[in-house]
Amino acid sequence: MTVQTGSADWTRARRKPEDGQTFSDLPDKFAGGSSCHRGKIDSVPISLCRAWTSDDAAPPATPAVVLEPEWSASKRSDLPLGLHWKQVLSGRFEFEFDLPAKVRCLGLGERFSALDLRGATHTLLATDNSDHNESADALYKAIPFLLLYNGDQSHAIFLDSPAPQIWELDTEFQQIGRISLLSRRGWRLYILGPASAPNLVAAYTTLTGRATQPPRWALGHFQSRWSYPDEPTLRQLAVEFRARQIPCDTLVLDIDYMDEYKVFTMSHERFPRFGAMISDLSASNFKLVTIVDPGVKRDNGFPLYKEGERRDMFCRKADGSLFTEQVWPGLSVFPDFLKEATRSWWGEKLKFYTDQGIAGIWNDMNEPAFFGIKQPLNPAAVELPEEQDQLFVHETETGPVGHLEVRNLYGMEMCRATSDGLLKHRPDERPFVLTRAAYAGIQRYAAVWLGDNNSWYEHLRKAVPMLLNMGMSGCAFCGVDIGGFGGHTTPELLVRWYEQGIFYPFFRNHSMMESRSQEPWMFGDAIESKIRHLIETRYRLLPYIETLFYEHRLTGAPLMRPMLWHYPEDKIVGDISDQFMFGKDILVAPVVERSTHTRPVYFPAGRWHPFEGGEVVQGPGYHAINLELGKVPAFAREGAIIPLASIMQSTAEYTGTEVCFHVFGDTAFGAFYEDDGHSFACNRGAFNHWNLTFEEGIFTSTCSRDGYEGYTRQYRVKTHSSEAPVELSLLENDY
Ligand code: GLC
Repeated sequence: MTVQTGSADWTRARRKPEDGQTFSDLPDKFAGGSSCHRGKIDSVPISLCRAWTSDDAAPPATPAVVLEPEWSASKRSDLPLGLHWKQVLSGRFEFEFDLPAKVRCLGLGERFSALDLRGATHTLLATDNSDHNESADALYKAIPFLLLYNGDQSHAIFLDSPAPQIWELDTEFQQIGRISLLSRRGWRLYILGPASAPNLVAAYTTLTGRATQPPRWALGHFQSRWSYPDEPTLRQLAVEFRARQIPCDTLVLDIDYMDEYKVFTMSHERFPRFGAMISDLSASNFKLVTIVDPGVKRDNGFPLYKEGERRDMFCRKADGSLFTEQVWPGLSVFPDFLKEATRSWWGEKLKFYTDQGIAGIWNDMNEPAFFGIKQPLNPAAVELPEEQDQLFVHETETGPVGHLEVRNLYGMEMCRATSDGLLKHRPDERPFVLTRAAYAGIQRYAAVWLGDNNSWYEHLRKAVPMLLNMGMSGCAFCGVDIGGFGGHTTPELLVRWYEQGIFYPFFRNHSMMESRSQEPWMFGDAIESKIRHLIETRYRLLPYIETLFYEHRLTGAPLMRPMLWHYPEDKIVGDISDQFMFGKDILVAPVVERSTHTRPVYFPAGRWHPFEGGEVVQGPGYHAINLELGKVPAFAREGAIIPLASIMQSTAEYTGTEVCFHVFGDTAFGAFYEDDGHSFACNRGAFNHWNLTFEEGIFTSTCSRDGYEGYTRQYRVKTHSSEAPVELSLLENDY
């Protein structure tokens, strides 16, 4: 029987050769070339294996890797972690490695899972799957970086191939990890370590890149909905935020701003004065972000389609015909973002948005998603179909490549086109791009959100470990839809979500068409004032958040960190999926259950100050903590100095806003970073960085860098002890 998914013929995707055999039993049929070298990334030891299936030479290592040319493994099995590999079918490689019981598995991008990914199968194939539940496997992102956590003796594996990968992390309880790579082409495999988790993430992000300092406005509150349908609605939204004094920086337009969902168009009927609307919004300090999907309506009256077709910008099937599928605009074609020419064409076109004053772009459906093909690879396929049998082919510098071989790159290449395009049109403005699909290295181009969650407590709970694993995979700038996308939120759930969400690096309320509205004022005054207070707290955290992004740029450290990142010696923290560190100084323990006001919180060694005052807690140990609805579920580490701003309505007010250094304990240290908040001058040294100390009652700020003129704001110091806070001194621009 011919198995078909969309237009692809799957008869060649062979089944297992004989019943009862596993792939491990099959002989190695690898006939290509391979190499294996030791080396270093930063100070982390690595082994780099490269395999190529044709007669070509080894693909080069990246410049971040320093190889020791004199060493190369004599056998392919001479690798750390007992890792060995073979090719069992023309379109399937198998890898196996030791996974001792004490090792925890973190990373792998977007997984619907608790923090430790052990005991489950994880398929890495970019898929538009909105069923986020225990049975869901492949989701939107595919990031093949796994951290094998074992304290200072941790390792990591990065299998650099954008083809489908299936990771089985000790599913059979035999202390074995397995990767099946469904590919007919070469790959690179990095084994990093032994090293600590922070050093491994540093090395991985040296290799794949780090996020730049985000534009300051993108760290503020985003309000989104599918969809704010017209100009009056959007204008009214802005009026409500300012009248109610609920801080907000950015409003988001989902697909309905377009004319018939045609990208690079705007409905003149519903947004008759788009330019004037943007200037008015900007006068009250609002930015606008618009969604841009990859699907281009196949319509001979649509100039973008005609031009793209004429210039050969769209993906074609192996027989040369255009690949078409249904998405929002109806039958559509898909730009081949793997081609440099297409990326630069798309980037040019973005002028349409930048000319209107759109501040940032949201790339959605970029797995790419198709309405008619839910599973990009037939689940029955045991090897990658031959290239001519794949959905379509990409034109690359080395010739045509079947879509599935590189599918996991598609979304990232679209973001690259978008980010580069924004930079082209606004060369000294930090671009903001948001994406749903991603591959390793996406952090260079875009922030990520985790797609279509629901207004469920289960998704509130899972957001924490899911985002922690994104951070361990190099994606520091991440968040989920606050309030939940699908279904109807409740006032309690929305408040609980903001309690957690103010610590998401990317902070957006978004919901689905036909779901109950969930703007902060939709549930009466009492709920509104709780949410206002939480969003205000987010804005007060802005100096701390910018300082954390600076740290990410230097070290690759995520902002949201699993507890074990900072407390590797603590035997309890590895099991904790429902609390996290926000930087090294703030412990966040959100309530994730309905109708629950007290929860156990685990405190590592030291003293912990409730964020909003109250009795100091002594760790290590569990404590029952009361967290009434609307309370900030966080604790400051004693020994920390945390910079907090005064309340503002938008980050545009930050330049004149007082910053207060909150000192926790008798001896404390901290840091503070500031720059102009929008340009690349910070990369050329135009920033200030202060090291803060408090010792024997004296607060000192030492400028480690004073490259930026600074603001006309005031700085204050406030100490916190177990007694009432004491004001110490007022520092006015003292640098
Ligand atoms: C997708 C996105 C969602 C968006 C919707 C309409 O489902 O994940 O965020 O609102 O499409 O564009």
